[in-house]
Amino acid sequence: MILYFSGTGNSRYVARKIAQELNDELISLNQLIKEEKTDELTSTDKPFIFVCPTYAWRLPIVVTDFIKKTKFSGSNKVYFIMTCGEDTGKSINYIQKLCKYKNWQLKGMAEIKMPENYIALFPVPDKETSKQIIKEADKQIDKIISDINAENEFETITPSGLGGTIKSGITNVAFYKMFVNAKGFHYTDKCIGCGKCVELCPLNNINLKDKKPVWKNNCTHCMACICGCPTEAIEYKNKTQNKERYYLK
Ligand SMILES: Cc1cc2nc3c(=O)[nH]c(=O)nc-3n(C[C@H](O)[C@H](O)[C@H](O)COP(=O)(O)O)c2cc1C
Ligand code: SF4
Ligand code: SF4
Repeated sequence: MILYFSGTGNSRYVARKIAQELNDELISLNQLIKEEKTDELTSTDKPFIFVCPTYAWRLPIVVTDFIKKTKFSGSNKVYFIMTCGEDTGKSINYIQKLCKYKNWQLKGMAEIKMPENYIALFPVPDKETSKQIIKEADKQIDKIISDINAENEFETITPSGLGGTIKSGITNVAFYKMFVNAKGFHYTDKCIGCGKCVELCPLNNINLKDKKPVWKNNCTHCMACICGCPTEAIEYKNKTQNKERYYLK
């Protein structure tokens, strides 16, 4: 069973490829989280494979929380695949802790470099560069698929040193406190009231009022609303004006 969380499509792209090649079930955590579903998930003879973005050098908190409160039965073998723009720091340490908590056998953790999507803080690559990055990622995805097929462990990621410990540790905690909220989002007169942002938000953090979006205060900075708006009508503070959007369908 392949379970993915994705703001702007990178992790969904990877998860879809794996599910297709392994002929395995594909589950959207965005949908389960949005519908507040925590029903038991069962995979009898195949491992659970989680695919998600890296947020501040760790699994997104929404994913960790979902895993903690959901019951998984059948297999106790798991793989984690994290897509990232640059690196996953010491995410592996936290994944190992999570597996211990769930009584899971961790078969491997892989990081796959995909286009950066954090438009609220950084520029995203242009279309041609994104294409090249995805082409490189495809090779790695193929290798991951053949490893899972053979029930092999993934090649161990070379642990990043003290920098990684700090990034995934105190910086992660400070990052959520300082940056992760919806206060900076606003719409411009390009908004056509289509409701796509409402549909895309995995945390039901957006409502339409008089056909215009209103953000509440439960945001995980997934960038789905700002990058998935069909008319590019959403901006974040003064950080995103005239910046290319990134959304992989
Ligand atoms: C809130 C946030 C935090 C991020 N933190 C990291 C990070 O620590 N390291 C990294 O390499 N990429 C980071 N990124 C980039 C994403 O992990 C990367 O682009 C990912 O592939 C996006 O996946 P998605 O399209 O499935 O949402 C971050 C992106 C966001 C939105
Ligand atoms: S997705 Fe964009 S155009 Fe549609 S309602 Fe939201 S802000 Fe407006
Ligand atoms: S408000 Fe936007 S950035 Fe925040 S969780 Fe919802 S879709 Fe993601």
